[in-house]
Amino acid sequence: MKHIVILISSGGSNMAAIARAAQQGRWAQRLDARVAAVISNRPDAAGLPLARKLGLPTEVVDHRLFETREAFEVQLAEVIDRHQPALVVLAGFMRILTASFVGRYDGRLVNIHPSLLPAFPGLRTHARALEAGCRFAGATVHHVTAHLDHGPILDQAVVPVMPDDTCESLAARVLTQEHVIYPRAIARLLRPS
Ligand code: GRF
Repeated sequence: MKHIVILISSGGSNMAAIARAAQQGRWAQRLDARVAAVISNRPDAAGLPLARKLGLPTEVVDHRLFETREAFEVQLAEVIDRHQPALVVLAGFMRILTASFVGRYDGRLVNIHPSLLPAFPGLRTHARALEAGCRFAGATVHHVTAHLDHGPILDQAVVPVMPDDTCESLAARVLTQEHVIYPRAIARLLRPS
């Protein structure tokens, strides 16, 4: 059985989409994979009760309790490694990770970013897409490397930008597609070769 560990910081809607896909018969039978744990760096993340409702074990590693990024990551890695994950999935996890942490999970660490990378890495992606007058926006699933939001692309989804879009309306349209491509990309990665 392959274990997936999901890291979140807030709402957890991507986490829930992945967990629901993993709980469906097709995934469970063909991939022999399950979400072993959902870990949040924020104790108040709305995704934590949502994960528990889906029957998933949850843990919190509160970054504010550590003096350095490195000390936080040591504890985070310890909690992750207990589950011996085949894949560590960043799903709205809002901490920048050091090269050493990324290297530890080389090839097993993936992220979803709410833009059509390589356009708009970093924050405020929807506002920047609107400011630039983009006619299309989207989301990207990618391997995580030490270069933030620049790892090899695994999947993308494109949505139109409407003339009356706000950051919120565009983000909501992109998010619905994130829920499609993230479980799909993970299933492809875990598929037995
Ligand atoms: C998503 O838009 C994701 O691409 C970005 O943060 C948001 C997280 O949403 N990194 P959720 O927590 O999965 O609902």
